[in-house]
Amino acid sequence: MTDPFEDPERLRRRALDALTTARARTALLTSCVDEPDLTAQHSPLMSPLVWDLAHIGNQEEQWLLRAVGGRTPLRPEIDPLYDAFAHPRATRPTLPLLSPVQARAYAGEVRERVLDVLDGVPLEGDPLLDAGFAFGMVAQHEQQHDETMLITHQLREGAPALHAPPPPPGSTSGLPAEVLVPGGPFTMGTSTEPWALDNERPAHPRLVPAFWIDTVPVTNARYRHFVDDGGYRDARWWAPEGWEHVRRHSIGAPLFWHREGGQWLRRRFGVTEPVPDDEPVLHVSWYEADAYARWAGRRLPGEAEWEKAARHDPATGRSRRYPWGDADPEPRHANLGQRHLRPAPAGAYPDGASAFGVRQLVGDVWEWTASDFLPYPGFAAFPYREYSEVFFGAAHKVLRGGSFAVDPVACRGTFRNWDLPVRRQIFSGFRTARDA
Ligand code: AVJ
Ligand code: FE
Repeated sequence: MTDPFEDPERLRRRALDALTTARARTALLTSCVDEPDLTAQHSPLMSPLVWDLAHIGNQEEQWLLRAVGGRTPLRPEIDPLYDAFAHPRATRPTLPLLSPVQARAYAGEVRERVLDVLDGVPLEGDPLLDAGFAFGMVAQHEQQHDETMLITHQLREGAPALHAPPPPPGSTSGLPAEVLVPGGPFTMGTSTEPWALDNERPAHPRLVPAFWIDTVPVTNARYRHFVDDGGYRDARWWAPEGWEHVRRHSIGAPLFWHREGGQWLRRRFGVTEPVPDDEPVLHVSWYEADAYARWAGRRLPGEAEWEKAARHDPATGRSRRYPWGDADPEPRHANLGQRHLRPAPAGAYPDGASAFGVRQLVGDVWEWTASDFLPYPGFAAFPYREYSEVFFGAAHKVLRGGSFAVDPVACRGTFRNWDLPVRRQIFSGFRTARDA
């Protein structure tokens, strides 16, 4: 098998495919609602969809047309409007944003020129160009905003706009509740994955003592035991700031859940339905995940534990690209790419199991870890400090594995996501661990 990242023609096709797949998703997410819905702010936590659309085009213009292509700016005057650091999300609707028609046309004009740049530029000889990195980075950026836009769709009130077939079935019968990951060193992070982002680098050894980790993510049925047991009313289970947060905001269940006639219901992309027992719990904050784990007599896995459970192959001592091996994700491996608009039941995707038999590490739900978002030893910001470096520190907790809303291009065994511990509009769940 030849490495697709080594053959220049396959590399060009890979970059083109990644960009094209992202744009198809962006087009769907911004064409299935009407113009007022595109410019409205559906939640102060989110941008109007039309901001994401033009921001996607603007980032692509800055990196692929200006930095890589050396082209003169198409519309330099709009740069400040789409600078995420210049304007917090809540204030974006008050800006003189491009209209939906203008934003679509702008992103399209940028893309047309990018295809021209991709045709002519060597995919080597410069860190931005090597293995087509800048193209992969921009495709990942668009897909990350496609996940953000899907969150906006979930927060939007009104009739359903998106539809998808159900995920494959799953069952935990015959599966052990937890598996043992033996102690010893493993290789965390990567120095060889061509499109890995700066915070995943470099590869480095980590000594991880033996621990037990859940075979599958915590399900709604299990989480409901915590709710019904009064877990949200007992300070013993909560980190002090988490306890204060749930008191102040009267939080008593995952976001989008409500109780009606003795039954828990949830709202999912405009549809109200019973909370399904066997699906991984979704839309919980780090504080809720941490409290559940303490109530269950367990703890959240550390980030290194999560990655060792996902990537370490005890037979070879190597770390894999994905839990199932080095092959790129296929639909049989994991619930990724917004093919389904919900997590698959616990125990689904046997073909995606890790070397230790841990299921659903990639796809379904982002998994909160115990860890703060910190740089690896030897970290170097690339190509811009604002992607990772400005977020390092104790304020953000790491999430791993990717949700059903993440495209495979933005998901790897080494991929790191992060957010504030109060956040729960994201597609977040968790699994638990304990010392061996
Ligand atoms: C890595 C998901 C936290 O959405 O804030 C998008 C990704 N960075 N544009 C985010 C990102 C710049 C980022 N996360
Ligand atoms: Fe962005």
